[in-house]
Amino acid sequence: MTDTQGRVAGKVAFITGAARGQGRSHALRLAQEGADIYATDACEDIASLTYGMATEEDLAETARLVEKTGRRIITRKVDVRDQAGLDAAAADCVEQFGRIDIVSANAGVCGCRPTVELTEDEWQDMIDVNLTGVWKTSKAVIPQMLRTGGGSIVLTSSVVTYNGSRNVAHYNASKHGVVGLMQTLAAEYGGQGIRVNAVHPGNVGTDMLFSESTLRVFCPDLENPTIEDLRERARGRNIMDMAWVEPEDITNAVLWLASEEARYVTAISIPVDCGLRIS
Ligand SMILES: NC(=O)c1ccc[n+]([C@@H]2O[C@H](COP(=O)([O-])OP(=O)(O)OC[C@H]3O[C@@H](n4cnc5c(N)ncnc54)[C@H](O)[C@@H]3O)[C@@H](O)[C@H]2O)c1
Repeated sequence: MTDTQGRVAGKVAFITGAARGQGRSHALRLAQEGADIYATDACEDIASLTYGMATEEDLAETARLVEKTGRRIITRKVDVRDQAGLDAAAADCVEQFGRIDIVSANAGVCGCRPTVELTEDEWQDMIDVNLTGVWKTSKAVIPQMLRTGGGSIVLTSSVVTYNGSRNVAHYNASKHGVVGLMQTLAAEYGGQGIRVNAVHPGNVGTDMLFSESTLRVFCPDLENPTIEDLRERARGRNIMDMAWVEPEDITNAVLWLASEEARYVTAISIPVDCGLRIS
């Protein structure tokens, strides 16, 4: 593929949480549409969570998949809670690729527990990764984007901001915070050529959804709930007759927001949720 093909041809995309799931899907599709990829992920477990994070091998697999498209990819192990690490990655991206045009602030974690039973660590880790991590990512990339002509930032929020899901107070608070951050960033930097928008996934078929704690939230009455149990319950909650969407479905929204097709679109939220928000 040459730089003249694709909906984001010749652009450079900086992605957090790119080792698996939606982040990997964004990396792959943006590359298929002509972008070079700077893919970051912490690749470390977090003690307060009940499921594992991606591994360095997962991040290497994202690189292999992107390389097959013919585009370039650089991977870097960076935790979005680490401002110095993000600053170094953003600077390295510009040094290696010359610019940052597209940012997907996608890294995130989830946990489920009734609000009053949450531990301080569970609350704090959720806010640190899902909200403060998005702010730190923005703080790292925006100065670089301003130097290289602006671009499009897509923040990953969640359908929970619409439907008040139970047992995810810390997650819901963090994802609401992302919307506030998106609106303020859009207002602050729109005049300088940076658009900022949010995607709000519903249930997406990734390790986050299939984690044991999520299975238990969907099936509190079952001792050992399975993914098939989850499928049945999740389908029942959606408006459309589908239990969950694929990472590629979220990528389609990210790709549009990142592309010139959305050149005058800023400060909007796009739910991709099978209608879950109104069910
Ligand atoms: N899966 C869903 O049903 C769903 C629904 C709504 C929103 N989301 C959001 O979508 C985004 C992507 O999640 P996913 O579904 O692909 O799940 P996932 O668990 O497969 O992927 C999340 C990625 O983020 C990385 N990550 C976690 N903490 C990090 C940190 N501190 N620094 C850097 N990287 C870190 C993980 O290693 C992993 O690769 C998240 O923001 C999530 O909250 C997911």
